[in-house]
Parts: sequence; C-alpha cells; structure tokens
Amino acid sequence: MSWHWQNDALWNSCSPSARARAEAVNTAALFTRLSELVAAQPLVALAEDAAELATIRNEAQDLRQVSERLVVVGTGGSTLGANTLCALAADPSRVRFIENCDPMTLSAFLRLERETTSWCIISKSGETLETVATALALIEHYRGLEKSLKRRLSVVTANPESSLGQLAQRQGWRMLNHPPALGGRFSVFSIVGLLPASYAGLDIEEMTSAAHRYMTTLLAAHDAGLSQHAGWIYANIQEKPMQLLMAYADRLRPATQWYKQLWAESLGKDGKGGTPVTAIGAIDQHSQLQLYLDGPRDKLLTLWLPDMRGEGASLPNVGIPGLSYLAGKRMGEVMHATAEATAATLAKAGAPLRVLRGALTPVSLAEFLARQMLETLAVASLLGVDPYSQPAVEEGKKLARATLAGVGA
Ligand code: PA5
Repeated sequence: MSWHWQNDALWNSCSPSARARAEAVNTAALFTRLSELVAAQPLVALAEDAAELATIRNEAQDLRQVSERLVVVGTGGSTLGANTLCALAADPSRVRFIENCDPMTLSAFLRLERETTSWCIISKSGETLETVATALALIEHYRGLEKSLKRRLSVVTANPESSLGQLAQRQGWRMLNHPPALGGRFSVFSIVGLLPASYAGLDIEEMTSAAHRYMTTLLAAHDAGLSQHAGWIYANIQEKPMQLLMAYADRLRPATQWYKQLWAESLGKDGKGGTPVTAIGAIDQHSQLQLYLDGPRDKLLTLWLPDMRGEGASLPNVGIPGLSYLAGKRMGEVMHATAEATAATLAKAGAPLRVLRGALTPVSLAEFLARQMLETLAVASLLGVDPYSQPAVEEGKKLARATLAGVGA
C-alpha cells in the first residue's frame, strides 16, 4: 500500500459509549459481509479481463486519432470516477466534462472546434434528463456534420432500448456496454472511468490491477485498519454525523467529489447515514479551519496529504528578511508545511482526526479509491443499509421530466 494512516487522534476523541460500540463490532462477520458485497458487483473485475481492457484502450485510441480533446457527457456516477482518474494524467486538459445542464456551460463547450473534438456520452440508465438533453443539443450543433460526429462519438449505456440507446441507434453512434450489474458510483474501474482515463493517456491496466490487488489483499487479510475505521465511523455516527475529506492537492478535488457521492448515496437511507463534507487544502484552511478547530465536535476529519516535497517551482532569495524562510524552497515544500501544520494543530486541539500520507501517483490513487469503496461498504454493512440502492431520488427525476412535458408541477 502506498498510503500510511495515522489514527491516534481518532481513538482519543471517542466517547466511552462510542468506544464500546466500536469494540463490539464483529470483525469476522464484517469481512464475510464485505466479501459478499464485493462479489455482488464487479467493482474491480476488469483487472482479470484483458480482452475487455484492450477493447476500452482501442476505443480510446480510435477517438484520439480523430480529435485533440474528449468531452465526456454524463452526471453523478457516470462522470465523477472518470474525472477523478483523468485529473492525474500528464495533461488533464485533454479530457473535459459536461456534468450539468447549465445552458451557459454547454454553450461554452459548443464553441470548441467541432472537427477536433470527440464526445463520450455516458448514462447507465440512458434516461438521465441532463445527459439526454445534452445529447440532443449535440445533434443540433453538428447538423450537416453528422458523419463527422459519428466518427468521434461513443455512447456508454447499460440499456440499448433507453431513450439514449434509441438515439444512438438512429444516429449510427457507436454504443458500448455499461456493465449492467455495476452501480454508477462504483463504476470507476469499468469502461465508465477507464475509457476517458485511457484517452487521457493513463495506464488503465496498471491502475485497475492496483485496485484489484489492494482490494483483494485487504479482504484476505481482514485488514485491521479498515475494520477499525469502519467501526469507529459507525459507532460515532450519531455524535459525529459529518465526515470531512480534506485533500491537500488541487488534482484531488474531483476525488473529493467522487467520495461525496459514494458516501452520501450509499449510506443515506432508512433514516441512517452520514453527511460527507469536502475541502481542499490549503485553500479551505482560510475559510473553514476555525470551525474544525474550535466549533462543535460533530465531524470526523480525514486529512489526505500527498507528499509533494521537492516538486514545483523554486523560490528565489530576494533579500527581504521577512521572506528569507522561503528562499530556496519549492512550492511543494510550502504545501507540505501548511498541510502538516494543519494536521498538528488539529491533533493538538483534540479533533477527531485521521491523516493519510504518501506519494500521489495513478497507482496510489487507484488504491485509495479501492479502499474507500470498501470502507463505504463496511460502514453500510454495520449500519444495516443496502449500499447499492438509491430509491429516494427517483421521484424528483420523474417530476422534472413531467414538468418539461407540461403535465406536472
Ligand atoms: O450512482 C448513481 O447511480 C447515480 O448517481 C447515477 O450515476 C446518476 O444519476 C447518473 O445516472 P445514469 O448513469 O443512469 O445517467
């Protein structure tokens, strides 16, 4: 494992009753249930499917050959994982995302050069309003250039008979299979995350194998850290109903968004769950740290501190005494100092804190994502909720469609 956890401040912040609840967790039963949940969805199964990985890589290569950039259209679980992976590419700007139905955002994207842009429309259901509306806008935008669009567009859906599937068939767009058994928010290591990642130039075999290997190792070892963290979160969820992930890297902003969906949609049901909160260091030190240090102790804080020492621009000695402490340092050392100072200050204040340290690479990111999926499944098991469903959001989706059709609201 590329990451190292520091947990001491976590245990010290536990109340006696929460500590008793955490200690009562039956680890063997937890890992049995976790193994069942992992077997129920192909979370990292592609690691053992070289043919499917090659298909994804070839599709990405075909799209690269006819374009300079890829725009991924989708929302929620259909884009958050891909966005997370692509942020670690050498040139992340080659893959961009339309995740909202904000008309101004789409208009800005439609100003991109049509003949050098590829598109990947991803929707498991093929019925998501925001996504199908954007697909329709593309048809209008490429009027007269239908053949050109056909060469540079792929649709990923689990439902070829859906509205998006029918549209793809009518337009002659390539349709690729979203694994039907895999939920969107758990799909980062499927075609959903990997096709954009491969376009971005990432080694998708390496990342998927790392996630698979790490997940298998944690499960086989009945990893004590994993069960302790899950037990701690479960036992404290009434007293500390918010779980903060604060990452010290701009490249991890999409990962924090991915985490937010995974946590909220997997756990928030039957009156149970925790509220995910995200922050980016050092920026949010200047807006929220006061609250974390001195406000209510209602949050579990996870600081994610990739080691960037030795990276980035060097700072010159300009002869100003007040700036001498920066002379010869690199920006990575500035980031490191702010991150470690925050961790130390929070620990000293007795905040419920765990810290994750290590080098940030595509492989270590894959390991983090694999572990986070397991932690979410473990907490769901302890809470007794089904992590794979999200029954409550369907009503709003139907109402939005009905409103547009002029028969509702
Ligand atoms: O995790 C989920 O299932 C949701 O967030 C979906 O990913 C999201 O609503 C998009 O759905 P779809 O992929 O069907 O367009």
